[in-house]
Amino acid sequence: MGIKIIKTGKALPEYILTNRELEELVDTDNDWIVERTGISNRRVAIKESNLDLSLKAAEMCLKGYDRSKVDLVIVSTITPDKLVPCMGSLLKRDLNLENAIAFDLNAACSGFIYGVWTAEALMKVNNFRSALVIGSECLTRITNWEDRGTCVLFGDGAGCALLERDDNETGIISSFIKNYDDPKEVLACGMEYRKRPFDSEDFSYQPMLIEMAGTQVFKFAVNAINEVMDNAIKDTGLTYEDIAFFVPHQANMRIINAASQKTGQDITKFQVSIKDTGNVSSASVPMALHDLMVSGKVKKGDKIMLMGFGGGLSAGAIIYQV
Ligand code: UT7
Repeated sequence: MGIKIIKTGKALPEYILTNRELEELVDTDNDWIVERTGISNRRVAIKESNLDLSLKAAEMCLKGYDRSKVDLVIVSTITPDKLVPCMGSLLKRDLNLENAIAFDLNAACSGFIYGVWTAEALMKVNNFRSALVIGSECLTRITNWEDRGTCVLFGDGAGCALLERDDNETGIISSFIKNYDDPKEVLACGMEYRKRPFDSEDFSYQPMLIEMAGTQVFKFAVNAINEVMDNAIKDTGLTYEDIAFFVPHQANMRIINAASQKTGQDITKFQVSIKDTGNVSSASVPMALHDLMVSGKVKKGDKIMLMGFGGGLSAGAIIYQV
C-alpha cells in the first residue's frame, strides 16, 4: 500500500517587505542580505492570521475533492493563532472536514517533514483514506525587529499537501528523521508566561522572540541536511541520480548550494524559492514543493526528495514517487 502526495497548495500574505525597507529598520544592506542568504523579499501577514493562510493553502488542495475522505489533519506550526483550540481543530471546523482527526505538531523548520512522516504512519495503521499536512507560519510575530542577524531572514506563509492512500501505487518510498540535542540552545524562542501570585520577585521569562546563533546553526544545517539525505536514500536501491528534484528547507541559499555540491547533483535539480519568501520555517518545504509542482517540470513517476532541518535541533528527509 502506498501513501501518495496527490496535491499541493500555498498561500502568501499580501504585504511584501523588501530588503530596502529593512535598511530603514536595522543596520543592514540589500547586498549583504542577497549575498549571504539569497533573500530579496519576504511576506508579512498584517491583515491575515495563521488560520487565514492555512485555510487558503488547504482549500487549494481540496478543490473538487471529496472532503468526507479526509481522515486526518496535521498542522505544523510554531506560531499558532491560539494554543487552544489548536490550528488543526480550527482548520477541521472551517474546512467542514467532519471525519478528520486534527492536531498540531511542533518540530520547528523540520515540521512539515515530521508531519508527512507522522501522517504516513497513522494512515497505514488506521487505514485512513487521506490526510492534509500543513506547514503554516506567521514568523514575523516572533521576530526580533531590532536584531539584524535574524530579522532579515524570516517571513510568513503556508503550504499544504494532500496525501492519499493508494493500494496500487508506490507513493512514499523512504523517510529518515533525526533529532540532535541543542545543549546551548543555538536556536530558541521563549514563552511569555505571566508572573503568578506565587512567583518570587526575581521571576523572569524568556521573551517570545527567535534567538539564533547563526553560524552554529549554519554549521549544523550543512551537516544535518546531508546526513538525512544519505540515510533516506541508503536502503532504497536508488542513487541521487534517480531523484528528479530536491525540495530543501529554504533557510539560506548557501545551505542549498552546499547540499548540491556534496551530493554532486546539479543545482537546477534543487527547488529554490527563498528569494521572495525568506525562511518561513515549517511552511518553507510545502510552499517550495507547490512551486515545483506548478512549474510544469514534474512528470508522473518522478522521484522527489523533501529535506528539512531546524530548531530542536531536528532534521528529516522523505523520498516519494509522484
Ligand atoms: O531555519 C532554521 C535553520 N536556520 C538556518 O539554517 C540559518 C543558518 N544560518 C545562516 O543562514 C547564517 O549564519 C546567517 C545568514 C544567519 C548569517 O550569515 P553568516 O555568514 O553566518 O554571518 P555572521 O553571523 O557570521 O556575520 C558575519 C558578519 C558579522 O560582522 P563582523 O562581526 O564580521 O563585523 C555580522 O555582524 O555580518 C554581520 N551581519 C550583518 N551585516 C549586515 C550579521 N547580520 C547582518 C545583516 N546585515 N543583516
